[in-house]
Amino acid sequence: MPRQLFVTTALPYANGNFHIGHIMEYIQADIWVRFQRMQGHAVNFVGADDTHGAPIMIAAEKAGITPQQFVANIAAGRKPYLDGFHIAFDNWHSTDAPENHALAQQIYRDLKANGLISSKVIEQFFDPEKNMFLPDRFIKGECPKCHAKDQYGDNCEVCGSVYAPTDLINPYSALSGATPELKSSEHLFFQLSDPRCVEFLEGWTQDGRLQPEVANKVKEWFTVRTNADGTTSEGLGDWDISRDAPYFGIEIPDAPGKYFYVWLDAPVGYLASLKNLLDKRGEDFEAYMAQPALEQYHFIGKDIVTFHTLFWPAMLKFSGRKTPDSIFVHGFLTVNNGEKMSKSRGTGLDPLKYLGLGMNPEWLRYYIAAKLSARNEDIDFNADDFMARVNSDLIGKYVNIASRAAGFLAKRFAGKLSALSASSAELISAISSQKESVSSLYEQREYAKALRETMLLTDRVNAYVDANKPWELAKKEGMDAELQDVCSTCIEAFRLLTIYLKPVLPALAAQVEAFLNVTPMGFAEADTLLGAGHTIGNYQHLMQRVDVKQLDALFEAPAQAESTVAATETIVPGGAEIAPVITIDDFAKIDLRIAKIVNCEAVEGSTKLLRLTLDVGEGSTRNVFSGIAAHYQPDQLIGKLTVMVANLAPRKMKFGLSEGMVLAASHADAKAQPGIYVLEPFPGAQPGMRIG
Ligand code: MSP
Ligand code: ZN
Repeated sequence: MPRQLFVTTALPYANGNFHIGHIMEYIQADIWVRFQRMQGHAVNFVGADDTHGAPIMIAAEKAGITPQQFVANIAAGRKPYLDGFHIAFDNWHSTDAPENHALAQQIYRDLKANGLISSKVIEQFFDPEKNMFLPDRFIKGECPKCHAKDQYGDNCEVCGSVYAPTDLINPYSALSGATPELKSSEHLFFQLSDPRCVEFLEGWTQDGRLQPEVANKVKEWFTVRTNADGTTSEGLGDWDISRDAPYFGIEIPDAPGKYFYVWLDAPVGYLASLKNLLDKRGEDFEAYMAQPALEQYHFIGKDIVTFHTLFWPAMLKFSGRKTPDSIFVHGFLTVNNGEKMSKSRGTGLDPLKYLGLGMNPEWLRYYIAAKLSARNEDIDFNADDFMARVNSDLIGKYVNIASRAAGFLAKRFAGKLSALSASSAELISAISSQKESVSSLYEQREYAKALRETMLLTDRVNAYVDANKPWELAKKEGMDAELQDVCSTCIEAFRLLTIYLKPVLPALAAQVEAFLNVTPMGFAEADTLLGAGHTIGNYQHLMQRVDVKQLDALFEAPAQAESTVAATETIVPGGAEIAPVITIDDFAKIDLRIAKIVNCEAVEGSTKLLRLTLDVGEGSTRNVFSGIAAHYQPDQLIGKLTVMVANLAPRKMKFGLSEGMVLAASHADAKAQPGIYVLEPFPGAQPGMRIG
């Protein structure tokens, strides 16, 4: 019987683009999902943007747009990352979608009916200028312990002490600078301290479903809890789930002016995204969730364990819903031993820059997989290590097996495989007998071990090739049968190894399937062989090596102002002198507009041009050709905003009419510095806005 699996990753805040930490999480989950599908199981794999909360509301206000527009802009930028790294979510949704409003409100009503919602009046800092209660992060002041200035409302970054915002000396609002006032307000609480919740959670978290190190950490929360003021109390505390208007969130039923705290509705977004997917397919969400055999898993990072192992299962349980079968917690990714990436900024390795440099996404998938275990441990991306593993292991040991054998088979045997000799068959059965072991390592998320086992098998195949020397057999008379045997063995081995690597390298595996003339392979296919008489296709180069220049470019700091240039040197910025002075009237003749790239595609017959479909808010779109095909994949541009010259005379080109020009930066000496950089406005700009 195929398993029914419902799998998610954490829902990223919709306040910025993905950083490499997000991509790592998606790669981890995607490998597991692909593995399950290769086992014949049925998986629904969904994600969504986490859109609510005060920080996003405030960022939108600063950008001069509604929070809805703000999060829509962020959502529009997700696709190039997900497609680019071969992350195959079945659905990507939003916590601000109607399904989530309805589900969150229903879960709340169910919890309330179960007697688990209480209310309490609490005192909180209020910004009298902004007319809103201030989240801790937006209150600053002097640390009560070490007296460092400008510290946040919840903890001091200088001495590390934890306190309540009301303990700050001379507090001020980080939004307006005003002195906040204490104001009381009624808040709603989810009563986690209720004995029913405590009993349930003690069982649910300690019954072996969680990773041992996670279960142990969670256990501490049942005995002691750290309060905002640094003191400790016994056991689970009630959870404050309401926020007062103005707040970008979901209104609480029967509580006008009150909204769910973002972390109440965020995990509900898992269900909302699934429901949206099933609705689109015409399947019934309730019936799907009611299947007794349904398994539910959430991949998350170590910083959000409390929400997923206490609040979320309790919300589900006491609203009468299915609880997760497990929560898979991973550590943080650092880059080149750098500092832990800032949650909002992300540093080090820009995923789109990686793709833009033409670096293969499956190199990164392979490298990350080669570092991941099932434990909640941090991993580091190290540039030298990356290059070594991809070039020596992935390409040197695995890809080369095919290239060593395919040429002889094509040239001498018309691509036909022979039956295997006894010693060759022994090697092949040694590889296929590892199927159970490799698949159980994938199942347990022990990817590093799965790849290590696979690489040990590649070593055996390479040793076999070195021992049998097909290049010598090819030169000798009368050794055709031996040559065909060795090369057939390599191809059979290569096919099995490809199955073992396929969850990690889906695109490469698809190329291999085409080359081998086989239909898409699952793990079951490791029990069979291509067999004598099977004809393989033409070998095409499967994968490039990592070039150190790409890594240099990837980590090269963005160009800095060259303040150190000696005064005697003539500075020619960007390789070209600044053009003669113009007046503001000259400038005003050029109508520059924000344009949304609604579509982008390659131009048949041109290696230079991309065809852009631009929306400049005119109610119809424009067609523009741009000579950037060598620098951008169409996917990277679709959904992005850029700047165009909107009143340039249309130009008839070989491929059609070009109705404007997109702005991009480049160095005057394109030979020495070939990069082209399309302009992108700060978040908040809307199609059609004039630039000046
Ligand atoms: N919005 C919440 C999650 C809500 S889930 C219902 C959130 N968003 S986040 O954008 O800050 O983080 C999303 C995920 O990325 C989390 O699982 C987080 O742990 C993970 N990571 C953030 N930085 C990371 C690294 N540097 N390395 C690996 N994962 C990291 O939290
Ligand atoms: Zn301090």
